[in-house]
Amino acid sequence: MASRGAIVEPITSSISDTMLPSETGETKLPVKKIPACYTELFKTIENELYEKGQSSFEKPNELAAFNFLCRAYFGSNPVDTKLGTDGPSLIAKWVLFQLAPVLSLGLPKYIEDLLIHTFPLPSFLVKKDYKRLYDFFYESASSVLDEAEKMGISREEACHNLLFAMCFNTFGGMKIFFPNMLKWIGNAGPDLHRSLAKEIRSVIKSNGGELSLGAMEKMPLMKSVVYEAFRIEPTVPMQYAKAKVDLLIESHDAVFEVKKGEMLFGYQPFATKDPIIFERAEEFVPERFIGVEGEKLLKHVFWSNGPETEHPTVENKQCAGKEFVVLISRLFVVELFRRYDTFEIEVGTSTSGAAITIKSLNKASF
Ligand code: HEM
Repeated sequence: MASRGAIVEPITSSISDTMLPSETGETKLPVKKIPACYTELFKTIENELYEKGQSSFEKPNELAAFNFLCRAYFGSNPVDTKLGTDGPSLIAKWVLFQLAPVLSLGLPKYIEDLLIHTFPLPSFLVKKDYKRLYDFFYESASSVLDEAEKMGISREEACHNLLFAMCFNTFGGMKIFFPNMLKWIGNAGPDLHRSLAKEIRSVIKSNGGELSLGAMEKMPLMKSVVYEAFRIEPTVPMQYAKAKVDLLIESHDAVFEVKKGEMLFGYQPFATKDPIIFERAEEFVPERFIGVEGEKLLKHVFWSNGPETEHPTVENKQCAGKEFVVLISRLFVVELFRRYDTFEIEVGTSTSGAAITIKSLNKASF
């Protein structure tokens, strides 16, 4: 999610190699692991709905995301270790310390500026929490640390970087993006839900009842919905960078001269909701990216800090987890509509995006 390029990239790309499909077939690793974690997530929500008449999505989502990532990356279930269910709250505190300079807690501006925007928060306040996460990673990720050592990176350095990539980039991304995506899909209403359920279930059925990466490729509406959620609300909307050389930046109708060393600020929604490129740019249009014409628009989707049609490299600063993120987001939508025909939500706000309350879930009836 954030810039951490040179050190993290070789490790994360070797992880991604394990997670993503090989050219010849399907590792199916996340595809196999996700149902168990998401069964737990939906069970928790269903129980809370039954007991209280509504359920917050936030906590069960975070626990499921963390458990899924640990099981998928390292084959370890944190709940069976000393970490228990504490992972998400330890990460939340640590991430708060990283992001404090750009966060808003909803307090009056002058108090926030003084409290969290002016001085670095003292690290000793979070040291013990970080150490618990570090110890968990050090013990659980030994096979990944072995790989790092072979690449000439010490186990300790690799462990810090792995923790960063998994807790900040990956978990942080799922914590923000999944509720946002649920908001857009939820608000789109039962007609879309039914179409997604039909598509997803019929493809799985014709694949012998199995979900696989190949099967997911045959779900154009589901794929389009995920891209549309990334387009309409990119998870990391703001980017800063200093120009390394003199350059010209063109818009549709103007050219801007930028001098080496000048600070640039980029706001992705200006591009991803550009009405010259996208019809009904402010609306969530579920089928936007379907078909040949729809797919042509993917080059204008920039959530990963680059066009959706390009791939991350060590040089281009594009999100190293791009393909993985798209995969797990698709898996989440598939799991949702395998289980439910439709659902209702209420949307509030939180420091990290949408706060979703599930009001009802209609179990699969066909
Ligand atoms: C929803 C989830 C995610 C979102 C929205 C996201 C978004 C981004 C964005 C916008 C950047 C560019 C940051 C900048 O330079 O300003 C970035 C970079 C990066 N992301 Fe992600 N990311 C996500 C998940 C992941 C995952 C799962 C991984 C790890 C496998 C990852 C690893 C990285 C790395 C290493 C960089 C730095 C690339 C470089 O500077 O060369 N991200 N991500």
